[in-house]
Amino acid sequence: MAEFRIQPLARFEGSSAAIRRPKEIACFSYDENHQLRLDDSSLRYYYPPRLPVDLSQGFDTFKNLDDNADDHLDALLTTIMEMEKKDGKRCEADVVTWRGMMTKIMAAPFDYFNDFEMNATCFQGTIFLEENHSYKLAEKAEQNSKPPRPGAHSQQMMSYWGYKFETLCLLPAPWGETSREYIEGRENEVVSNYAQYCSVVKTGIGNISLVLGGEVDAVWDTKPTDPTQPTNWIELKTAAAPLTPADALKHERKLLKFWIQSFLLGVPRIVVGFRSASGILTHLEELDTRSIPGNVKRQGKASWDGNVCINFAAAFLDALRKTIGRGEGGVWRIRRRERSPVIEIWKVEDAGTGGILSREFVAWRE
Ligand code: A3P
Ligand code: MG
Ligand code: MG
Repeated sequence: MAEFRIQPLARFEGSSAAIRRPKEIACFSYDENHQLRLDDSSLRYYYPPRLPVDLSQGFDTFKNLDDNADDHLDALLTTIMEMEKKDGKRCEADVVTWRGMMTKIMAAPFDYFNDFEMNATCFQGTIFLEENHSYKLAEKAEQNSKPPRPGAHSQQMMSYWGYKFETLCLLPAPWGETSREYIEGRENEVVSNYAQYCSVVKTGIGNISLVLGGEVDAVWDTKPTDPTQPTNWIELKTAAAPLTPADALKHERKLLKFWIQSFLLGVPRIVVGFRSASGILTHLEELDTRSIPGNVKRQGKASWDGNVCINFAAAFLDALRKTIGRGEGGVWRIRRRERSPVIEIWKVEDAGTGGILSREFVAWRE
């Protein structure tokens, strides 16, 4: 068992380790039936909603994806494999994973309640890192079994609010190509989380290169035809409108996740939809992703430090490579328990790659 210490955080303070600007190298979509498509067909466009609006409306018709099956890294690996076939060269990286895994790692220094379990394997010199699905399912079941506080809404309803907000903000085509009827009728659209657009980016933290896949909610204008130009991606987030100083601190802590999630894929702007405790969307705020850490430090309560997150991630990934990145095969577990000052890493299988790599991907690479 190897341990990577999170505390004391002073080791990670100071200017941040080198970071490479994330660059999209491929994308994929899930269509409205959640079928994988190796294209940008589920890309959506942002256009602000009419306010105020009730986010609970339509909950009874919510098309909520069943995520009980373990999809491992499958869609990401299929996309990488198709890209390699097209380009005629291997996509090299030290670490390949979903953006969500890196979000959990980067948030660990300040998110004391965040606990996670991941599986990792080293294959052809690259570490492939996935969520330990059975752990996530158990965690979700526990959350959903807790009765909501008196007067509060259920977890399912609060989760619906997030998707409803997306439906109210998104267009299937750029604004100029969308009918007025569609824009005004968004309030009556059935809310579904089956469709997704996912970006696959190449990025780097410290001396580790990464390929990350993650969902991007929308584009502000259109995706530039020139691939060297950055895209004006938008992340949509709902948040309870802070009313008291305690709420403001809670919101600042929430910004940690907002920032990391967008930082990792190079999403420059976040549109926050503020809602009342009963789910009425009242106003919007546009955040410039890059300026969030500075604002938290200077104008807020400085409850987290973005440079510490970056330096921590750089050091952790380096340690991960030293621990498991030398060998070939075998499966490792990576665990952080709630409030724990350490991340634990240990071997759970001596050979093979567990379920982490799809058979197609391994066959293609070998
Ligand atoms: P909010 O983030 O506005 O709450 P994302 O913001 O990552 O694009 O996710 C879209 C929505 O999915 C979220 O909206 C939330 O409603 C829902 N969601 C994401 N992660 C969730 C989780 N772990 N549990 C429940 N709902 C989640
Ligand atoms: Mg999303
Ligand atoms: Mg979002």
